Amino acid sequence: MMKFITVKTYEELSKKAASIIASQVILKPNCVLGLATGSSPVGTYKNLIKWCADGDLDFSAVRSINLDEYIGLDGTHEQSYRYFMNDNLFNHVNIDKANTYVPSGIATDLDAECKAYDARVEAFGGIDLQLLGIGLDGHIGFNEPCDEFVKGTNVVELDESTIEANARFFDSADEVPKKAITLGMGAIMQAKAVLLIANGEKKREIVEKAFFGPITPMVPASILQLHPNVTVIFSEN
Ligand code: F6R
Repeated sequence: MMKFITVKTYEELSKKAASIIASQVILKPNCVLGLATGSSPVGTYKNLIKWCADGDLDFSAVRSINLDEYIGLDGTHEQSYRYFMNDNLFNHVNIDKANTYVPSGIATDLDAECKAYDARVEAFGGIDLQLLGIGLDGHIGFNEPCDEFVKGTNVVELDESTIEANARFFDSADEVPKKAITLGMGAIMQAKAVLLIANGEKKREIVEKAFFGPITPMVPASILQLHPNVTVIFSEN
């Protein structure tokens, strides 16, 4: 079943998304959260940080699996997704960092890293709640448009449009890594619940395509139409 929620502001979106994550943590304190980076979840994470500081939320037993990481950046690089997660969430809540997982972008054997990441998700018994953003080309994680859906964690070449979109965080587009390691569609589709957030008019068209258009690997997020428990929150700004 898909729940599609439209709200006016990013603040409303962030509060609703954080409430859904908070209820998961309250219902199952040792839940496995699938987490995303990018600008969409920043407001959501701010709410979670506040509620944790207020004593209303306890992350001490939570495990987390992040979606993706740039190839070539280690966790101390300010644009790495490990750094982002520490900076935007983990450093500010009582989660045990040893229970937080982000794929390694500097593994010498990337194939082994992909397999180990999938084995980790499996050992956890899968993801309870997967938070997702959506790229302008319909990517989720860094599963870019292609001829087929990829099941396992995999190494991908980033699309030109993704590199351009992410250049805002780097000094220039040239500095954006060209490859990333991403959780595949298998782990995402096997998550017990999926929460996708998208804000702003620029995302409207791709959200409509993904959730109301044909299911095709050319619009990777469209596979979520087949997921039994998806909530989409779209905000107009
Ligand atoms: C981030 C990720 C990406 C982003 C997407 C949207 O971990 O997996 O799929 O969710 O690129 O990014 P923003 O939120 O910056 O528009």
